[in-house]
This record gives sequence, structure tokens and C-alpha cells, in this order.
Amino acid sequence: MIDAFGLLLPLLRLLDAEDAHRATIAALKFLPKRTPEKDDPRLAASAFGLDFPNPVGLAAGFDKNAEVADAMLGFGFGFVEVGTLTPRPQPGNPRPRAFRLVADRAVINRYGFNNDGHAPALDRLTRRLARLGETKERRHYGAGPFRGAHDGAGVVGVNVGANKDSEDRAADYVAGVAAFADAADYFTINVSSPNTPGLRDLQEPAALADLLASVIDARDALPTRRPVLLKIAPDLALDQLDGIVRVARDRGVDGMIVSNTTISRPDTLRSPLSKETGGLSGKPLFLLSTRMLAQTCLRVEGQFPLIGAGGVDSAEAALAKIEAGATLVQLYSALVYEGPGLVTRIKRGLVEALQREDVALSTLVGRRAREIAQGKTYDRR
Ligand code: FNR
Repeated sequence: MIDAFGLLLPLLRLLDAEDAHRATIAALKFLPKRTPEKDDPRLAASAFGLDFPNPVGLAAGFDKNAEVADAMLGFGFGFVEVGTLTPRPQPGNPRPRAFRLVADRAVINRYGFNNDGHAPALDRLTRRLARLGETKERRHYGAGPFRGAHDGAGVVGVNVGANKDSEDRAADYVAGVAAFADAADYFTINVSSPNTPGLRDLQEPAALADLLASVIDARDALPTRRPVLLKIAPDLALDQLDGIVRVARDRGVDGMIVSNTTISRPDTLRSPLSKETGGLSGKPLFLLSTRMLAQTCLRVEGQFPLIGAGGVDSAEAALAKIEAGATLVQLYSALVYEGPGLVTRIKRGLVEALQREDVALSTLVGRRAREIAQGKTYDRR
């Protein structure tokens, strides 16, 4: 199927970006599921009390409605994050709202949290677990058997957000945590989408402190403890990042994802579509998001693990994220250009790097955070 998708890529490129995505989801739902190859044990990672067969995850936004988690785990992802999901369904912004910047290996999107709402996604995830024979009791946090894509149901996180017209945005996040209590292996609190007006204001320390207090209270009330991660924007001044990390540490989040898409437009962009409004992702986001990751790593001081996202399109890029401080990485945009075979290529390259240096993956985490944060030598590509 990897090859089938490789062959399909040029055809998908003939479609508008959103139509291509819809066709891909439809095909993934319809095609037989692959069983992922067993990962090299050197790629195994642990974070937030969860065990991962490999550190390469699918970022939020690809599987907004939790329709194709198993298909994506079948391509070899070590974990899949579904969403962003809002309590009520909403249509998102008018089309066109997704653009391929081919010359830049990038994507701009302004979807605006189009999604089916909590209920259908919860139903899909619940039926999925029933199908896989997973019971609620087996799904522990912080203890219990190894759980990974080749040994159980695979790690599936749920990224939650707020409806655009919500009168109480914090309540929407709390509703997400309550709704997916039995279905999510972890939660991501997405306060960093640029496409819902005012959402990123929740990154301001006072608002963030209130939001995280409510979310963590809701989590603590669940029968099974689930890790809560905070996903931030790359477009933050360092004093803003100081405040965010201080609040995240005070409130006891289990991890952070750095980063979401950027509203900035690096002057290297060549595509005529680069002026479209929305969040930019892919290769041109790599530098900014990796620096922000390293800056976050220095501030977190090991209190919790980080996930690095933004422009991961090769083993070298994944390795740079890890050396900047990421225990795990996520990707989305590179799939558009490379196809799902990229996951296997990245994992192979990571194993080769570990063999070359004869080190464990965990020893690489954050070892170059300081120099990458200062922007000295960040780019291994
Ligand atoms: C996204 N991303 C995203 N993030 C999120 O938290 N909720 C979402 O709903 C979406 N939706 C979304 C749609 C599209 C089309 C793209 C390209 C991206 C952001 C994504 O999860 C990731 O953080 C960034 O895209 C950076 O990673 P890549 O794409 O450079 O690998």
C-alpha cells in the first residue's frame, strides 16, 4: 500500500489540497489495514507514562475525525494524534482553505477546526477499541503492560479545542477531556491554532493558568489518569514562552508539543500562494519550530517530555528535533510530498544514526538544545 500511495501522489496533486485530503481519507477507510512491521527495539521510547514502539507520530489535523488511526499506525507511525475536535460539529472557514506551496515543500491552511464534533469521533474510537479487544482496565497511565502499535492497540492521542462561537472556551476543553476519558491515551490542549480568532490568546499566562487548572482538575477526576499535553505556537517572543512554561510547570502538565503552524512568512518562500492567510507548515517551519523547541527544552529543565513538530521530513530533521529536546516527533505536511513511505525511511535513518554513534535514542534528547536555541548550528540537513 505504501507503493500504491506513492503512485497515487502525482494524481492527488492534480486535485485541490482539500479534495486530495478527502480522497486520501476515503481511500484509507476503504483499503485493507496493514499490520506495521515490528520496530527495531532501539527506537522504543517512553514518555508521559506511555510506551511508544518508535518516536515518529502523526500530527493533529490529518485525521480530524478519528477515522483512520489504524490505517496510519499501519504505515508505521509510533502514535497518532486525532483532532482537533470541538464539542459541537462546525463547518470551518469557507473554501478554498488549504494550499500546497510546492516549490517550498510547505502547506498553508486556514481550515478553522472543521470537524464532526465529539460524539461521532468518540463513537469511532470506542468501537475501534472494542474491535481490538482493548478493555478500559488495560489502558493504564503510568503503569501496566507495554502498549505499542505491535503489541496492543497503538497509542492514539486526542487533540481538543473550542468551538468558534463558544461562550466558555475553557468549558469546551474540559468537555473534551471528560468525553474522551476512556478513548484517548493522552490529551492535547490546542491553544495555538491561528485559524480560530482569539484562540491563541489562551496562551497568555493568566488565561492559560485558569484553562490548565480546569483541564487538570477534570483530568484528575477521571477514573483513569491520562497525560495532558499543551501544544503551543512557534510565533512567541521568548518572554511569552517564559510565561507559558512557568504556568505549564506550575499547573503540572505532562508534556508540551512544539509547535503548531506559523503565521509568519519566511522571506525564503517562493510559491505564489505564500500570501494566503493561515498557518504555514512544512519545510519552512523547521528552523523556527526547532529553535522554539530548544528554547522550551531549556526552560522545562527536564520536568516533562516534549514532542517536536514542524518540518520533519527526513531522519536528519527528526534527529535535529530530538537533539533540540524532543523525546518524540510528529509530522504532517511532509506526507503530502513524500507519501507514507516516509515514516519507514525516517525510522531506518534513525536506527542507522544510533548504530553509527552506538548510543541509545534517549541519550540524544536535548544534547544540542543550547546551541540550537541560540541558532548557531541547527540545521543538519
Ligand atoms: C494542521 N495542524 C493542526 N494542529 C492542531 O493542533 N489541530 C489541527 O486541527 C491542525 N490542523 C492542521 C491541518 C493542516 C492541513 C496542517 C498542514 C496542519 C498542525 C500540525 O499538527 C503540525 O503542528 C504542523 O503542521 C507542523 O508540522 P508539519 O506539518 O510541518 O510536519
